[in-house]
Formats: sequence, C-alpha cells, structure tokens
Amino acid sequence: MKHFQQKDYLENFIQALFDTIAVEGKTLVLGGDGRFYNREAIQIILRMAVANKAAKLWLGRNGILSTPAASHLIRKLSTDGGIILSASHNPGGAEADFGIKYNSSNGGPANTELSDKFYVAACRITHYSIADIPDIELDSLREERIGDTMIEIIDPVAEYSTLMEHLFDFDRIHQLFNSGVFHMRFDAMNAVTGPYAKAIFERTLGASHGSVVRAQPLEDFGGTHPDPNPMYASELYEHMFAPSAPDFGAASDGDGDRNMIMGRQFMVSPGDSLAIIAANANRIPGYRDGVAGIARSMPTSRAVDRVAAYMGVDCYETPTGWKYFANLLDQRLITFCGEESFGTGSDHLREKDGIWAVLFWLNILADRQQSVRDIVQQHWRAFGRHFYCRHDYEGISLQQGENVIARLSEQLPKLSGQCIDGHEIIAGDNFSYIDPVDQSVSENQGLRIILGNEMRIIYRLSGTSTDGATLRVYLERFEPNPEKQLQDTQVALADMAKISRILAKINELTGLNEPTLVV
Ligand code: CO
Repeated sequence: MKHFQQKDYLENFIQALFDTIAVEGKTLVLGGDGRFYNREAIQIILRMAVANKAAKLWLGRNGILSTPAASHLIRKLSTDGGIILSASHNPGGAEADFGIKYNSSNGGPANTELSDKFYVAACRITHYSIADIPDIELDSLREERIGDTMIEIIDPVAEYSTLMEHLFDFDRIHQLFNSGVFHMRFDAMNAVTGPYAKAIFERTLGASHGSVVRAQPLEDFGGTHPDPNPMYASELYEHMFAPSAPDFGAASDGDGDRNMIMGRQFMVSPGDSLAIIAANANRIPGYRDGVAGIARSMPTSRAVDRVAAYMGVDCYETPTGWKYFANLLDQRLITFCGEESFGTGSDHLREKDGIWAVLFWLNILADRQQSVRDIVQQHWRAFGRHFYCRHDYEGISLQQGENVIARLSEQLPKLSGQCIDGHEIIAGDNFSYIDPVDQSVSENQGLRIILGNEMRIIYRLSGTSTDGATLRVYLERFEPNPEKQLQDTQVALADMAKISRILAKINELTGLNEPTLVV
C-alpha cells in the first residue's frame, strides 16, 4: 500500500495510463471497492482527468463500484473504458494492499497489447498533469462540469440491479423468500458487495432483514481477508454447518467478483457450481435462448466439460485469467465461464460476478424447490462427481519451487505408460494455449498429468515474491458410482495426494511432507 502513497507514484501511474489510452476527449467509468486510499486516489485521478481533458467520468457514489458493476457500466454507457481501484480479495488498510485496474471498452480487463503499451509509457514518463482544484463531492448524485470534463456521480447499484432483474426471475425468487420457510445468509465480508446485496437480496427480493451480514464496506474490511473460501469466510462456513443453519449461504470478495456457495451443512465446490449453473441454464430467463459454449481455466474441475458434452456445445480450456474468457465472450463463442478460484461469470459482462452467481443459485432454488444438497447430489448422479481439491505448499523458496517444476517438466515426456502406486500415467504436458480469437500463444501455464480412471494432477508455481513461493497442486478424480460419490473429498483423494507428492518429489525438494493449506 505504501507504494501507492509514495510521492508522485499514483500520479505517474495514472499519467502513463492516460498517455496509453490518449484520454483527451475520452469517457471513463471510475470507482473502487472502498478500501483504504480509495477516496484519496479518486480525487487525484479526477484532478488528472480534468488536466488531461477527459470528456466525461461516471463515478459510483462515495467512489464505490464493484468490479462487475464497473464492467457493466462501461458496456451500458459505451464508455472508452474504466478504472477500478481494488486489490480484489487481498486485505485492505494502511499496511495492506491497494491496486488499480484498467478495463477496456468491452468491459473486460486490458489485453496484453494494451498492458505492454502501458508498460512502455510507464518507463518513459517524465511529467504528469494535474489540475489545481478542490476535492469533488462524491456523496450525492449530481453532475458537474470542470474545464473540459463532465463528472457525474451515479448510484453504484441501480444499473447493475436492473441488469440482474433482466436476467433472473425476481418474482419467483421473491415468492421463495415470501414463503417464510426459506432463509439465506450472505456475507459481504465488510467489502464492496454490501450495498449491492442489501439492495437486491433484502430490499428488492424480500430476504429478511439481517440476511446480509458484514454489509458495510470498511477501509480495512474489518481487519479480515475478504476472500470467500472456507478458510477466510470461516464465519459463514461455520454458521452454515451449525444446527440452526439457513437454507442457503454465500459470500463474495473485496471487489465483488468471486463467490462461494453453500447449502445447509453443505459446501458447493466452485467446479460443481459452474457445472450446475450451466446444466440449469434453461430454467433462467436470461439464458433460455441457449448456451453458445462454455469455458473454464485449465486447473478448474472438468465437471462442466460433461455438461457441455451433454448439451452438445464446445468447452474451452484456457489459462487462468479473465481476459482469456473476455475474448471468447466477445466472439459469442461461450455463454458461461469459470475459474478454480471461486470465479464464475457469463456473457452478461466481462468480469467474474459474485452477486450474479448467488442470484443464479437463488433462481435455481426457487424453480426447483429442492435443497442445495439435493440439487448437487442429483447432479452427481446424472453426470458423475469430480472430486476436487487444491493442496498448497506455502512458504517455500522460489528456487525450491522452480526446482520442483523444472525437474518434473523434464520427466514429462517419459511419464506416459509408467505405473505409480498402482495407477497408470496416461499423459503429461506443460499446458499452452492458442487463443482461437487472436491466435496469441500463452505457454508454461501449468504442468498437467493425466492418470487412469480420469484422475488429473496439476502443478503450478505462484505468489513468487520476495517472501517466497507457493506450489499449488490441484487434484481431481472422476467418480461415476453414486454409492461412492458421498465419500469425504479428502478420503476420496488420499491416494492421489500421495501420488502427487511422489511424482514431484515434493518432500525431497521442498522439505515439506504435507500441504500447508488444503482448499
Ligand atoms: Co476479486
């Protein structure tokens, strides 16, 4: 965070961005997730937009916009792009993280070409322009012209809420809440989705008051790590496993693009959630015209592949990163897409979307009148279950991590046909992707090993910073037998966990015997 507060740091960053997009005469959306420094950064960006003669900026009231809402506004208002202030699911506060993202006119993250141009501009920057004007008032809806620039403060929720109403059967969901027997708990994690969730779930759809918890966006997210997974959303997770748990539980992250879905005493894995969303598309008004195709990031569970095959549509396997999906969405090649890290979305905008995923589930629940658990287990019986889990080996040195990946990469061509712990290795490769739209090539996207009985192990190295690296190992196994589908995930994947350690010599090369985090 302190990085951004250094003298001229943010100013140089923004000037490089403005130079890259030639901001004079352009229109932009601007907002952030409300974390520490959000308001100050917005004032600096506004003064610079005025000095650089931007034509118009639309801002969420109080500087608030979730990432999906900003993506939607860019598209809805046909702006040239948008600036989103957020560090997503990372902690906020004076000592924590801050970030700036630029999204292009399609509403999606800047592509590689634009990022490269920005990098060149940032290296060459010698000065920046900033107007000497007082702070702009951000807390009421109004318009103001300053110099050549129009600034309009808008309700951050209204347009987004209208889009959701268009996609989902709000009447039916309202009836579900009105029945009085259905209860939900949404954990906004003191982050940006609070105002969206209060407006949509409680005020519009009739969820009882208090269904949305930790609804106030706080500068430090109340000291929490706003990442919706069983570890960081442990309050919701434990609540949903308590005897008095409501029927449905969900959470979203700092900037509102991730989601976690739960039923009473039941956790829905992100891969199953994507598959079930796709399989139930014909129940949802906004998706009744059919599904063009589906995409998932390579490490994401292949559960959705079976749904795509059943529907007779293409399933794309992409590197991790929403920009790969945005290309496919723009060409109308896909309708739904998802990532392993609790990200799900569709062609309605060009980011993953937490509230959207929650509404999708609410619409399925209202339509099917079944519990979350029944819906998921029925899905497994119909399509088979993909047991799935991620093992993180945290706090290893970058050198250790690189050793694991380099050694295993060398082994890959020799692995097929080998038997390990009673399981045959079918194939192994280092995942690379050719974008079907712009033909760009992305290499070294993770080591992928396929074993018999549809087992798959993926190795990726990430979090490469000065304090070390994390080796992520993704384990997946298909189980067609309904009687065996109800096993505990860790029990079902115990063999594979062992194989994954032997294959990569994790213990020898990192000193770790067990993962430090299992999600
Ligand atoms: Co996020």
